Amino acid sequence: MKLIWMSDLHFEADGLVQGHDPRLRLQAAVGYIAEHHADAAACLITGDLVETGSERNYKRLREGLSGLPMPVLPLVGNHDDRRVLRDVLPLPGSAMPGFVQYRADFEDLSVLCLDTLIPGQAAGNLCQERMGWLAAELAALEGRPAIVAMHHPPVKLGLPMLDPDNLQNGNELLDLLAGFPNVLHLLAGHVHRPCSGTARGIPFATAKSVLYQAPPPQPEWDWSSFRPAAEAPALTVLERTETGLTLQQCQFCDYALGAAGAV
Ligand SMILES: [Fe+2]
Repeated sequence: MKLIWMSDLHFEADGLVQGHDPRLRLQAAVGYIAEHHADAAACLITGDLVETGSERNYKRLREGLSGLPMPVLPLVGNHDDRRVLRDVLPLPGSAMPGFVQYRADFEDLSVLCLDTLIPGQAAGNLCQERMGWLAAELAALEGRPAIVAMHHPPVKLGLPMLDPDNLQNGNELLDLLAGFPNVLHLLAGHVHRPCSGTARGIPFATAKSVLYQAPPPQPEWDWSSFRPAAEAPALTVLERTETGLTLQQCQFCDYALGAAGAV
């Protein structure tokens, strides 16, 4: 069983975002998935679907994603508008009212998609209502394997400019997850960098952006000197195996595609 994982599309109907063309990058990703991974059960997108949360942007994004031969599991990021996202993009029937939080069940894996948005802030949080929903869903799985996906990473990653804007109550989330050994992996977006490790013994990974990449922490940088790294984008292919999961990071186009001024 295979899933595709994309993150941080920062889609806009017009213009460039951080010097990159979100329409060309999305088209390349969708084309790559349709050509090479049409057998995937779903395509998970861990938030920042759009750069600005207008209805027009979400409708154009929906058109751009329509070339995918599998259902999309959208998550909300700090650039998203929860209400407009819900109005335009279909969510599974299990979604919590008023949030972009739901469970999607596949043959031998469930995906718990969390809504970590605090409207108007870069950092994320899971309120008691959403945490309670997660506890109930984890219990309802009765040990069946699951992965947990969210926009904001629940742990510090050693990225000084990005760590302050992660999930504020990540420890609380990890306290809950520690009681469920059937949680095979955590997936997060937000940082536009591929990081992986363990958190209280649970493996986690963050993803490259489909659009633009954050530089590594060294050489040091701050927001006044921020320029996206000249790195190619990637998406990830997740496969359920006999022993657990594999995550394959796949470059779907060259850096130069849709990057202003790239040679
Ligand atoms: Fe982002």
